[in-house]
Amino acid sequence: MNFPIKSFAILLAVAMLAFAISRCHKMNAKTATARAISEKAFSNPLAVPPVIDGKNASIEAKSSTADLGSGISVNALGYGGAAILGPTIRIGQGEQFSLAFSNGLNEATNIHWHGLEAPAAQDGYPTDLTVPGGSFQYNFPIKNRPGTYWYHPHPDMATASQAYRGLAGFFLVTSPEETALGLPTGEFDVPLVVQDKRLDGGLTYSPDNNDQSIGLFGESVLVNGTIGAMLEVATRTYRFRLLNGSNARIYNFALSTGAKFQLIGTDGGLLDAAVEVSSVLLSPGERAEVLVNFGGTAVGTEVFLQSNTFSGTDVQGKQTFKILKFKVARQESDPFQLPALLMPIEKIAESQAVATRSFNIGHMMSHGGMGGMVMHPIDGKTFDANRRDEVVNAGTTEIWEFDNTAGTETHPMHIHGVQFLVLSRTGGRAVQSWEKGWKDTVLAFPGEKVRIIITFPDNKGKFVFHCHNLEHADAGMMLNFEIM
Ligand code: C2O
Ligand code: CU
Ligand code: CU
Repeated sequence: MNFPIKSFAILLAVAMLAFAISRCHKMNAKTATARAISEKAFSNPLAVPPVIDGKNASIEAKSSTADLGSGISVNALGYGGAAILGPTIRIGQGEQFSLAFSNGLNEATNIHWHGLEAPAAQDGYPTDLTVPGGSFQYNFPIKNRPGTYWYHPHPDMATASQAYRGLAGFFLVTSPEETALGLPTGEFDVPLVVQDKRLDGGLTYSPDNNDQSIGLFGESVLVNGTIGAMLEVATRTYRFRLLNGSNARIYNFALSTGAKFQLIGTDGGLLDAAVEVSSVLLSPGERAEVLVNFGGTAVGTEVFLQSNTFSGTDVQGKQTFKILKFKVARQESDPFQLPALLMPIEKIAESQAVATRSFNIGHMMSHGGMGGMVMHPIDGKTFDANRRDEVVNAGTTEIWEFDNTAGTETHPMHIHGVQFLVLSRTGGRAVQSWEKGWKDTVLAFPGEKVRIIITFPDNKGKFVFHCHNLEHADAGMMLNFEIM
């Protein structure tokens, strides 16, 4: 009786080791740095995804040829007939979301509703997959505040690959209260998903060892799937919904004129009041809504949305580069008046927290015997769909800490199915203006520890939280939590 158990244990140990090795990768002795951006001529009209009704939607994921502009065509993945990216799903708070999904790819996939309070079985859990040729019905009530959310695939170890090759879209929630604010609408409300791609050799996903360590960086910036994008604007106020949909690159969004603009929203919707800022630093997965007023700018003027340099990591942030050209094309009167108050944010008192959980995200494991293989664990663990890492109770409030104090890597940490508030950050960098609203993703540079407060919704089941550097996530930097 003893012998078979022993051999089973040995077999299990070997299987676990093989699994662990599949999630680690070699890193060069010197720390790699991000590939530099090479700017294109900004002459291609910005693509703006079509809007579909979230109450009655259907989309298929498919592979086809995408025209990125400047004569560059690549094989890419898209949703709902788009060659790259997907339609913007629009729905009101409190309405019932219904989307029939079909998988026209030759690989398994699913959809995760990033930022939304989706039920566990609808959230795109990494092992809940739709097979090629299969379909799945997504259906749940929209509880979130009005705001800018997004959707993308989430299969275990293939999220980076599928999102990189084009699968992502906006998910906008509206409400009568939001409409009553009179924010710019229609052509003056523009979603902008910013992504860097590596276009030598097409849009194929083939990360090398360095990419798997620091994340995959491209040399070309796409906005809404357009390379060298240009948008003609009128002399009035625009609402831009910025989404960093890149695998690993952080952008420090600013205007080339140095002009200030109004920050009005974060990951989970509008702030309680607008804040004037001159830049917004967004890591992968994060969103910000901003108002830019082109009034008083002479027709013919060119203004760029660009990324300024930033500090906090040695890997990226050393370069200023342009992202999108605004060409002031016509004189128009601006009916917009900035409301003094936007949408109230109910702060959660720290005293309400029933537990504090601290996660060590700053311990890079390496296997000495395997030629410098590295992994990006959380608390020493990598993703296992069969494990239950944390258990929380619906309706209760907790403080979570992402501790990168001893770390050398940058980790944008994202939690599924919730919105949280950022309480504090150690390491010198304060909680930023764009972190003072509802959030689902928060950046921790090396040396930082970020504390957040969360009230868990009544959506029972298993969810994941992970680093939104998608190479890190696919290498296992993802754990489970179950809402009971
Ligand atoms: Cu946008 Cu689990 O991710
Ligand atoms: Cu998410
Ligand atoms: Cu990470």
